[in-house]
Amino acid sequence: MCNVSLSVGCVLDAGGPLQNGDIEEVAGRVCIVCPWHKYKISVCDGEGVYQAVDPSVKPLKPRWCSKGVKQRVHKVTEVRGRVYITLNTSPEHLESDQYQTSKYRDALHRNRK
Ligand code: FES
Repeated sequence: MCNVSLSVGCVLDAGGPLQNGDIEEVAGRVCIVCPWHKYKISVCDGEGVYQAVDPSVKPLKPRWCSKGVKQRVHKVTEVRGRVYITLNTSPEHLESDQYQTSKYRDALHRNRK
């Protein structure tokens, strides 16, 4: 298990609430499963993974593929029972960053009313 935390807001689709996602092992990787549309994101590096089938290869055999790193991850440290999160403030733009803006949060809040 890696010691990271994901930004809230699924980047793979529509900003789903990753904090409510299940943790599963997918192809040997620990992933969070977005509760809205079940996309899978590695909690170690934020890489989106999906299963695909090449219809030209018989018999059909699904294989795991990568969407690339889409989700910002943060370092988690546990010291004497206390959990600390070190935010990843890398200037590198990741698609998940759009769900951390006040513009997105305001729009989400308006849609819940
Ligand atoms: S919002 Fe996360 S998979 Fe659709």
